[in-house]
Amino acid sequence: MTDLTLTARTELPDALRVLLAEYPRISWEHDPEFNDLIRFWLDRHLMFRRVVSEMRTDAQQMLDAKLAPPKFTSRLSRFGGMFVQGLHEHHTIEDTYYFPKLAQHDQRIEAGFDILDKDHHEIDAQLNTFVENANAVLNARDNPTHMHENTGKFEADLTQLEKLLDRHLNDEEELIVPVILKFGAPNME
Ligand SMILES: [Fe+2]
Ligand SMILES: [Fe+2]
Repeated sequence: MTDLTLTARTELPDALRVLLAEYPRISWEHDPEFNDLIRFWLDRHLMFRRVVSEMRTDAQQMLDAKLAPPKFTSRLSRFGGMFVQGLHEHHTIEDTYYFPKLAQHDQRIEAGFDILDKDHHEIDAQLNTFVENANAVLNARDNPTHMHENTGKFEADLTQLEKLLDRHLNDEEELIVPVILKFGAPNME
């Protein structure tokens, strides 16, 4: 059986992409059902992608001595907090409100929501590592050697997290946006 865990898969299986075939990504913004909720939610995903990319670029620049350590650490504590808190909130809303409602619409893709839910757990575990690594960098402020070593580990693990997050966000968008375009936004009452 195909391994569908976040670390193993390269995309969702075709059986779960039936609605995407009806609503290809290129058509989304032109669809009359494309609404503010979808736009807001896609923008959140874009923001997570950007903040991870910024932090990784910062770490690389710091390792290459192109970014001063005090500037690096102040940006890291600001972006890191925003990223972790924002992603936790985002996952909670999806798991609690959106997934249970959207999963009811079409049995053919119901299994996709379990995959996304499992992804969240996998990403949460990686977020714990992210926090540990970021704290190790911040605590090494006064020791250039440790700062360099810890930033190296932070950057390597963040590169892995970025890859997993991108896989998750793409698959989630391609599962959920077609459901909303076809069946409408979930009623939150
Ligand atoms: Fe998600
Ligand atoms: Fe999401």
